[in-house]
Amino acid sequence: MDLQLKIWRQKNKLNKGEIKNYSIKNIEPDMSFLEMLDILNQGLISSGEEPVAFDHDCREGICGACSLVINGAPHGPDKGTTTCQLHMRRFNDGDTIYIEPFRGNSFPVIKDLVVDRSAFDRIQQAGGYVSVNTSGNTVDANATPIPKPDADKAFEAAACIGCGACVAACKNSSAMLFVGAKVSQYAHLPQGKVEAKERVTNMVKQMDKEGFGNCTNTGACEAHCPKEISVENIANLNREYLLSKIK
Ligand code: SF4
Ligand code: FES
Repeated sequence: MDLQLKIWRQKNKLNKGEIKNYSIKNIEPDMSFLEMLDILNQGLISSGEEPVAFDHDCREGICGACSLVINGAPHGPDKGTTTCQLHMRRFNDGDTIYIEPFRGNSFPVIKDLVVDRSAFDRIQQAGGYVSVNTSGNTVDANATPIPKPDADKAFEAAACIGCGACVAACKNSSAMLFVGAKVSQYAHLPQGKVEAKERVTNMVKQMDKEGFGNCTNTGACEAHCPKEISVENIANLNREYLLSKIK
């Protein structure tokens, strides 16, 4: 396939960015989207130009590092798919493809297509863990039976890879699907109950401090989430938050 690429280039977070045009030839349909960008970068490096910076790590849909807006959609056109799992067979010979970074004031652009998502790390650090000291008093995990529906809900919430597509898809740049998933993965389990009130209070406080917007129930986050995290987790976040306020 021969393609026209329109890619956001930005030197650093202080510089103004712009869309630049690139032509790329002989792309195989079985290549991944990131392999196509690797080939573009090889060509740019060979001709003495600066390669396009983009985030990636595992390239198998589990780390959440890849983060491109492709033709206006975070992670591109396939449902439940990360950018690294998207393949070029999804496009046609002669297509023009727009490639931009994730949008959101709380995700400032570092360079080209790479954004700073450390706001998510700080939200996690505010309470996304269990810190109860069980030293010398550890109970065998199998001694605490957990109803299957609760285990399933916790597991589904824990599938969130922290990519930030929910923020990029939301017109309010809301992080509530991410925070909802991180709160819910513990809220459904007995070991998460002990610190439940502090967890939700501190994570929501940090989420607000980072400048993410509020949820207005458009559902864009769930539609673009590569792990298909349900908006039920936002309802659960709201429920946990209200419960934390009841003494
Ligand atoms: S909820 Fe989905 S879109 Fe948001 S960070 Fe988690 S995996 Fe990414
Ligand atoms: S590079 Fe790890 S999820 Fe895409």
